[in-house]
Amino acid sequence: MTKPCRALGFAAIVLASMSIMGAGTARAIADPSSAAVGARDGTNINGVMRVCADPDDLPFSHAGTPAQGIYADVAELVASRLEMQPEYYWWLSVAQKKALRNTLLAGNCDAYFALPPSAATRQISISKPFMTVSYAIVADRGFAYQSLTSLRDKRVAVQFGTPPQILLAQAEGIKTFTVRTSKEGLESLSHGDVDVAFLWGPEAGYLNAQRFNSQWQVTPVKGEGLQTEIGIAVRAEDQDLLQKLNTALDDLKPQIEGVSRKYAMPAGAPVQTALNDSGAAAAELAKPTQFETTSETKVAADDASQHAATAAPTTAPSAAPAPPAPTLSVEEARSFFNNHCSHCHAPNAQSPIQERDLRRLSKRYKDKWRDVATTTIKKGRTELGMPTWEDILTDQDIQNVLVFLETIQKN
Ligand code: HEC
Repeated sequence: MTKPCRALGFAAIVLASMSIMGAGTARAIADPSSAAVGARDGTNINGVMRVCADPDDLPFSHAGTPAQGIYADVAELVASRLEMQPEYYWWLSVAQKKALRNTLLAGNCDAYFALPPSAATRQISISKPFMTVSYAIVADRGFAYQSLTSLRDKRVAVQFGTPPQILLAQAEGIKTFTVRTSKEGLESLSHGDVDVAFLWGPEAGYLNAQRFNSQWQVTPVKGEGLQTEIGIAVRAEDQDLLQKLNTALDDLKPQIEGVSRKYAMPAGAPVQTALNDSGAAAAELAKPTQFETTSETKVAADDASQHAATAAPTTAPSAAPAPPAPTLSVEEARSFFNNHCSHCHAPNAQSPIQERDLRRLSKRYKDKWRDVATTTIKKGRTELGMPTWEDILTDQDIQNVLVFLETIQKN
């Protein structure tokens, strides 16, 4: 099972061994009856479930108060079932081994949300699965996807480096368009550049609901490398905890289904999808000698008008009085930015993820960019992962940030 490496945005990576499912972690801990678990590393406080999670991996988890995302919601449910309060320890999950080493194995959390059963090792046990995640076919409502044959003569967006790309490269008669992100895949659909998008289901479902008015039908698939179950990882020695988590997960099935619906995870029976699994026609699709796939790398247009449109609700220029004058030098403002914002926007705001690359503000919003930036910083776009800062930063702070942003605009 592989998954696009969410945190890198465009640089989807096929991971041979196991997925990075947007791993978060939950430290399930010391409830009063298992004080021994809490005592071992001296960090547990009775009644607190310290949850490790990825700070920036919607729809799975996202830092904030309250924490958001599927894993955070499931962690809340599990914690409350065990009569604990969750407390978060955030760690990016891009490099899974490193993330595990620094969270679960370092004793910074006791339960890591979430990993597939295949991730179990000598040091790590995985709970019962609480959810299945998969790739999905995104198309017009009413498109009856039955097997790869349904994609014949269709133009299909696939994300670079993902199992669907590899699968479709071997099928005949399907034109694939390589995109860098799920979002680009959905945009290609909405611009009519493709007929179907074959994307990572949790992202596709979530973006469809958040940005496209749930306009598309999102059908989950199954097949080699296309789906996996996920569970909570704990240290192998914490068998007591594992038992408790398993019981809680059993009891919480209906609530967890509610969480899936809340984040618009692809629903319904997954459709078997493989080169050789859909009868004679599929066998024909697979003939390597008739390999005709066209692969075009589609680079997303920097569609300012559309971005502005999707961002509209939070970007109305505020009719505020003249802002305070900045108080920091460019150098100081840059380091202020790097301290507060770089974990999501990259150092110096040069994120490789287009919508987080703050060098493009003036290109995108022309002479309105300062207003858009000010409003976005204050109000956030919380549903898209940009937090609200108005309770944290003063107007003065924001002006200082603009001083730095000014210097990096690429016109
Ligand atoms: C937790 C992650 C996170 C943090 C921290 C964060 N941002 Fe963002 N920010 C985002 C995301 C995600 C977007 C893109 C939203 C979208 O797709 O429209 C964004 C968008 C923006 C935009 C609008 C970009 C555009 O082109 O429309 C501005 C301006 C911005 N952030 C400034 C900041 C500043 C300044 C800080 C620090 C004070 C900051 N952000 C901290 C995640 C974050």
